[in-house]
Amino acid sequence: MKTIVINNYGGPEVLQLTDMPTPAITTPSQVLVKVKATSVNPLDYQVRRGDYASLFELPIITGHDIAGDVIAVGENVKKWRPGDKVYYSPRFGGTGSYAAYHLTDASSLSRMPANLSYEEAAAVPLIGGTVWEMLVVRAKLKKGDTILILGGAGGIGTFAIQVAKSLGAFVYTTGQSILQEQLQQLGADVVIDHHQKNYVEEIQAHTKGKGVDVIIDTVGGSTLSDSPRALANYGSIVTLVDIALPQNLIHAWEKNATYHFVFTRQNRDELRHITRLIETGQVKPVIDSVYPIEDIKSAHQRIADTKRDRPLFGKIVLSL
Ligand SMILES: NC(=O)c1ccc[n+]([C@@H]2O[C@H](COP(=O)([O-])OP(=O)(O)OC[C@H]3O[C@@H](n4cnc5c(N)ncnc54)[C@H](OP(=O)(O)O)[C@@H]3O)[C@@H](O)[C@H]2O)c1
Repeated sequence: MKTIVINNYGGPEVLQLTDMPTPAITTPSQVLVKVKATSVNPLDYQVRRGDYASLFELPIITGHDIAGDVIAVGENVKKWRPGDKVYYSPRFGGTGSYAAYHLTDASSLSRMPANLSYEEAAAVPLIGGTVWEMLVVRAKLKKGDTILILGGAGGIGTFAIQVAKSLGAFVYTTGQSILQEQLQQLGADVVIDHHQKNYVEEIQAHTKGKGVDVIIDTVGGSTLSDSPRALANYGSIVTLVDIALPQNLIHAWEKNATYHFVFTRQNRDELRHITRLIETGQVKPVIDSVYPIEDIKSAHQRIADTKRDRPLFGKIVLSL
């Protein structure tokens, strides 16, 4: 089967198109899935670079999203049948999605939303579960709350804006001016161009010094120390980014802030909530671009390149 293999850590050039044997079911709870589409997440270039070298052994098949068809099921699998359309995020540290077929435990599968194509569905599992965890499980975002989503044009950001809006929040986000209209169409009430303006000053001006109830950090850097100045008293900051640098949290203390650190685990229950939002038309995956899997190197270049001629907007998808 067609597979993208990483034999050595490095740039996009280490992603090698290879022919590998198709896996076969070996335990009664397994399911074999024909991968129709997958995606590129920052996690994939981080794995490719060797950021998680202590957790993996080379060679690696990376990839953290799958939309596809069930091909065969183990004898204990009653819920799924060949032909069912499914979507899910393969277990972090296991065999990833950059291959024509994927073997997984039946417990990881979710039914694909009826109103999405394979390409659209492949944009959802990793970020969908992550956004639900951040906004609902951790921040407990509710109607009337104010939220600032840093990195609104990214995979996480484009999804988080829509979910926040569906929950009834007033949404501030950061994004380039050229994307302002698109971000507003997703549900952003106020877009702050982070290349031109200081988001802390903008939030303080917009909220008359009160700050926002929730801040979502997809950016890292000095966000943990800077963003409390844009936070309301007793507000929450939810971050996805692993930050090794020491941070000065004095402003967090002044605000009685709560920090939540999120490292997503595959959670079918969270994806079920996202499926409902998609099927009721409240949320739609945003696709930046679709590449054939053979063109994986260009897809990885696009996500990792910080000097793009066209800004990133949503998810990069790979079709098979
Ligand atoms: N912990 C977890 O479980 C988990 C799960 C998913 C993702 N993540 C992490 O979350 C981060 C975002 O993921 P993603 O999929 O959304 O990435 P992405 O699709 O690459 O998007 C990144 C976005 O952030 C914006 N950005 C970059 N620097 C910024 C800054 N200083 N201020 C404001 N916006 C800025 C970029 O805008 P420009 O184009 O203008 O630079 C881009 O739109 C990644 O680091 C990823 O590894 C973690």
